Amino acid sequence: MKIFLDTANLEELRKGAEWGVVDGVTTNPTLIAREGAPFADQIRRICDIIPGDVSAEVIATGAAAMILEGRELARIHPNVVIKCPLTQEGLRATSALSKEGLRVNVTLCFSAAQALLAAKAGAYIVSPFIGRLDDIAQPGMELIDDIRKIYSNYGYKTQILAASIRSPLHVAQAAMAGADIATMPFKVLEMLFHHPLTDKGLEQFLKDYNRVFQDTPAEP
Ligand code: E4P
Repeated sequence: MKIFLDTANLEELRKGAEWGVVDGVTTNPTLIAREGAPFADQIRRICDIIPGDVSAEVIATGAAAMILEGRELARIHPNVVIKCPLTQEGLRATSALSKEGLRVNVTLCFSAAQALLAAKAGAYIVSPFIGRLDDIAQPGMELIDDIRKIYSNYGYKTQILAASIRSPLHVAQAAMAGADIATMPFKVLEMLFHHPLTDKGLEQFLKDYNRVFQDTPAEP
């Protein structure tokens, strides 16, 4: 499963890149606005840090305007994936942009039926929002299972991107459910590394080693 960072913050992206486990980035208008820099500049900087897919979302709500905006976004950098919302207009734009050979991430997906439509429209990625479903007491992870089943039944190539991830458990469950990608906030990625038994085990190893060898000079 590919791991994406769900952030437009350059500092977080640099740290993530150093860890060597980040395959791409997702942004949305909220995340871009949080950084305060001009949209295209910020997307370009993100692409320079992470050499993978970088989703950039359209702001327009009508298909014709989304298509124009999508083409503009794709011109920013070859790694840009255009993000369109899962509305009738968004899927019209997805279909048109996909036919032009551009890659579209259909976002704000909350049902298996919507994901079926996204695949039929030629989406490169579909983004089901797990956490926001959990927030309204609907089991978000079941949506990943359902979409995986539908896409396998018919051989759709659209990648399933588990979005709105809130915890390491979400990441593990998304991987077990067969999501192609999970996108997560920086703090969740950071949490994935840690386990108290790893820390305890390492502390004990070093203690045992140093008890015997601390006065022995290291071999050249
Ligand atoms: C995905 O592309 C979205 O940007 C994101 O995962 C939304 O997450 P949230 O529900 O935590 O805002």
